[in-house]
Amino acid sequence: MDENIRKVSEELDSAAPGLTHQEAIEAFRIRFLGRKGTVSALFEQLGTVPKEQRGQIGKQLNDLKNKAQGLIDAATAGQQNSVINTRTDLTLPGYPVQFGKLHPLTVVMNEMIEIFRFLGFSVASGPELEHDWYNFEALNFEHDHPARDMQDTYFIDRDLLLRTHTSPVQIRVMESQKPPIRSIMPGRVYRNEAVSARSYCLFHQLEGLLVDKNVSFVDLKTILLAFAREFFGPQTKIKLRPSFFPFTEPSAEVDVSCHLCHGKGCRVCKHTGWLEILGCGMVDPNVLKACNVDPEEYSGYAFGMGIDRIAMMRYGIDDIRLLWDNNQRFLQQF
Ligand code: PHE
Repeated sequence: MDENIRKVSEELDSAAPGLTHQEAIEAFRIRFLGRKGTVSALFEQLGTVPKEQRGQIGKQLNDLKNKAQGLIDAATAGQQNSVINTRTDLTLPGYPVQFGKLHPLTVVMNEMIEIFRFLGFSVASGPELEHDWYNFEALNFEHDHPARDMQDTYFIDRDLLLRTHTSPVQIRVMESQKPPIRSIMPGRVYRNEAVSARSYCLFHQLEGLLVDKNVSFVDLKTILLAFAREFFGPQTKIKLRPSFFPFTEPSAEVDVSCHLCHGKGCRVCKHTGWLEILGCGMVDPNVLKACNVDPEEYSGYAFGMGIDRIAMMRYGIDDIRLLWDNNQRFLQQF
């Protein structure tokens, strides 16, 4: 029996190199492991082996069977690999690599920051969760001002709220720095407004603040015109309309001539030829006082523009919600 097992084991070894295709593997299986195969025949002889040797011979037979099965498995796996290999067409072009893109808001904000940096402004930031003092009180909002109403402001408690504009950063900058100050403050702001194509509950602003000796409204107008020409194009005109903000006096709203129709009137400017882009004014003396800046010695100007609206104008986006959808088909266009 020993001798037979050894012989079959040798046969397995010599047949193994021939297992190069499916038919050979199947013939091998039948020859050794099939019902009438050599290994099976040896198992049948096990009954004739003397009892005391049976355990040991049985173990040898099992090893032999496992060896045959192992060779079959290895050859089958090799076959499958080679099938895959022969089907790989190496001349095919590779899969395209998908690159991420900057969000249109990021593109616009970076460009604005770049322009103001060039004009000598540094960049500052403040928290989005803000105290009533910074968001309202220090900015000269009277106690019954409608902007404090629950409708507009997300209050966290009596003192804490989600900032409704970037103007509180003006206060933080004046608290921590002595004039001359020349800073811009981009960031997210929150307002409890009904969500629609034109308004969203959060958006972005870019605030500007300059405080120094002898600052006048002309300086403000000059810097805004320089910005508008750099951002919208050299032919751009600006128009200032009187307005009101608690923290600036006098105050104005600024329109730029429509960069698409150059003032003729189109869908983007709603046929007026003008686009409203920001609010501005001379820093109210009360605000300077709240920050321990002497209004007799210093004056300043401030402005705040809505980044989302400007991005929408630039790219002709007609629904602000698209900026928040994370829709690849939309975002890949920029
Ligand atoms: N904070 C004002 C707003 O949110 C904009 C503004 C900023 C106006 C600075 C004047 C000066 O509408």
